[in-house]
Amino acid sequence: MAMPRRRLLVLALLAATSVHAADKPRPWMDTSLSPDKRADLVQAELTQDEKFRLIRSDFGDNEKGKPKKPAGALGSAGYTPAIERLGIPAMQETDAGLGVRSPGLTGKGATALPAGLAVAATFDPAIAYAGGAMIGSQARRKGFNGILAGGVNLVRDPRNGRNFEYAGEDPILAGTMVGNAVKGIQSQHILSTVKHYAINALETGRNTLSADIDETALRESDLLAFELAIDIGQPGSVMCSYNRINTVYACEHPWLLNTVLKQDWGYKGYVMSDWGGVHSSAAAANAGLDQESAGNVFDDQVYFDVPLRKDLADGKVPQARIDDMVHRILRSMFASGIIDHPVRAAPIDFNADAVVARKAAEAGSVLLRNENNLLPLSATVKSVAVIGGHADKGVITGGGSSSVEPPEGNAVPGLQPTEWPGPVRYQPSAPLAAINAQTGGKAKYADGTDIAAAARLAADSEVAVVFVQQWTAESFDPATMALDGNQDALVAAVAKANPKTIVVIQNDGPVKMPWLSNVGAVLDVWYAGARGGEAIGNLLFGKVGPSGRLPVTWPKDESQLPRPTIVGGGFPSGKPADKVDYNIEGADIGYRWFQKKNLTPLFPFGYGLTYTSFDYSGFKVHQANGDVVADVTVKNTGKRAGIDVPQLYVTLPDGTPRRLAGWQRVSLQPGQSRTVQIKANPHALARYKDGWKIAAGSYGFELGHSATSFEGDARLSLPAANVGNGAR
Ligand code: BGC
Repeated sequence: MAMPRRRLLVLALLAATSVHAADKPRPWMDTSLSPDKRADLVQAELTQDEKFRLIRSDFGDNEKGKPKKPAGALGSAGYTPAIERLGIPAMQETDAGLGVRSPGLTGKGATALPAGLAVAATFDPAIAYAGGAMIGSQARRKGFNGILAGGVNLVRDPRNGRNFEYAGEDPILAGTMVGNAVKGIQSQHILSTVKHYAINALETGRNTLSADIDETALRESDLLAFELAIDIGQPGSVMCSYNRINTVYACEHPWLLNTVLKQDWGYKGYVMSDWGGVHSSAAAANAGLDQESAGNVFDDQVYFDVPLRKDLADGKVPQARIDDMVHRILRSMFASGIIDHPVRAAPIDFNADAVVARKAAEAGSVLLRNENNLLPLSATVKSVAVIGGHADKGVITGGGSSSVEPPEGNAVPGLQPTEWPGPVRYQPSAPLAAINAQTGGKAKYADGTDIAAAARLAADSEVAVVFVQQWTAESFDPATMALDGNQDALVAAVAKANPKTIVVIQNDGPVKMPWLSNVGAVLDVWYAGARGGEAIGNLLFGKVGPSGRLPVTWPKDESQLPRPTIVGGGFPSGKPADKVDYNIEGADIGYRWFQKKNLTPLFPFGYGLTYTSFDYSGFKVHQANGDVVADVTVKNTGKRAGIDVPQLYVTLPDGTPRRLAGWQRVSLQPGQSRTVQIKANPHALARYKDGWKIAAGSYGFELGHSATSFEGDARLSLPAANVGNGAR
């Protein structure tokens, strides 16, 4: 039955104005209004002091030697107070993309996802989304409404100490995976960032060095990853990075922030600085920085308070810019849902959430070598030597702001460094226990410090599983790709004692493997997260088939890299270079660099073995509804169920190195086949010149098992076309 118009109007007004006792109406609480309109309505009520309070956060934690945290702050990286009279909540921001770092309302401990590289190696956006949703829900239950997640810097160097937080070397893979992780976080009505914008590709000298690169090359590589992640994930905020780009600091870079992000991509959220990333007031504000993060602790001074007020009075910054900063922050608060769905303390089911982490670790571990089908091991194996890596206690995690304290506490406390960027943390998920669970207690452990003893145990056992590891962290880069300590010697000795040696690598990225040809199998589990031990057990014994594919090229050694040396690399860092020349490879990162230089890596991008085999047939490429689509029939020709990841690569008419255009993850029972469609991301077909443009011409498509192994090719002529920004 139709309602009279006047009654409808009254009802609408009632809904629009949530009236609080003794409070004025709050028309911005009308959820039918757009986030922009709601932000405008709040903004009209704000005093200048309230505006200036919104455009800076404080450090929200108590740490030795730092000012006491503000009253109201939960104890995390960033805090802006509530504007209670208007019902605008405090922002409580916690790190980060692999799990919730700060204790919050429920106390210590959160569920750690495996490394970002592991999640990227799944090539499965749904796994990235599920991980994001899990940490978003834990953040909410702990009382945090902002997560500083979404690390999407491309891997330009296997030694970058923060590679484990990111999603690999390919812009389309990284942007897709991180965009979906952010979407998962924000599905819980939590405001997420993407970071670190941009080309924060090394930790050594990150606060000072200039990343020098041609603007077009940057748009076609690192910025493309951000562009896609932003388009898919719609993060409330973008965190500008520490480094300079072509000499100008990222957080005061008008081209990066105003031109590319806000103008070309139409980004409507706000730019927050990295902690200690601000060096000016007017310059940063005019360049597009909207909020200074924790400047009270990390910057030389709080630029976005007294100095910016003075700039305003002196006419160096217009009031309209201050209002735009405020508008963007409020808009994101409404758009993400943190105002309509206030966070509240609630219990967390850590066991249920850990399943999300285990599944990601299982899907993201990469089987690099498997001679004579040594893996999977049989549950009836008579004896297993488990060696090294504290495998009797747990699995290692990377250090720095992304490190997550397990609810049960650190499984191996006291390792150096115990202070920032430590502590070195282990998730209490012991591979030894998992292997014993699979074999009914047939495993024995040697810690590997006594190489001869470990070799004796290996010789006396049917198979040996050696755990090697590389601990890296935010704030430094290892100087070399070598495993540290005596790990290479340990593997060599164990492999000599028992040819049935399996190496499990826990790492930030590719490492040198001088012993590779002497071992039977190698499984890369990255940092394996809250249930890493169980995941490793399931993979070694074939409860789950490995299905990860390398999201990075695995060089033989540093001589194959665009820059064989990191000036000042190592822990602690030495004196860094003033600038790093990224024009050496430009947009040709990783597998594209290897193709351009005709180099053969140890393992290519996209590579990964499993316990069955697949056949491709019927590969063809065509256009459908404006998209380029490849069809391929994938058949499981082996005896076990398995997952394959057929990959579509494209070579443009200009002959530049091939690019990953798309992929599919296909799960098949033995003998089963399925025809799948792989859609080419239009950005893979385009070059950037005053916008993304597909040139008219003939395009070469290849169906890849990896970036260097192909089965099928096809050509397609495409007309000239413009590609919109983002993932359309
Ligand atoms: C890191 C950011 C992090 C921030 C807050 C910085 O050191 O680079 O990734 O979100 O600290 O902890």
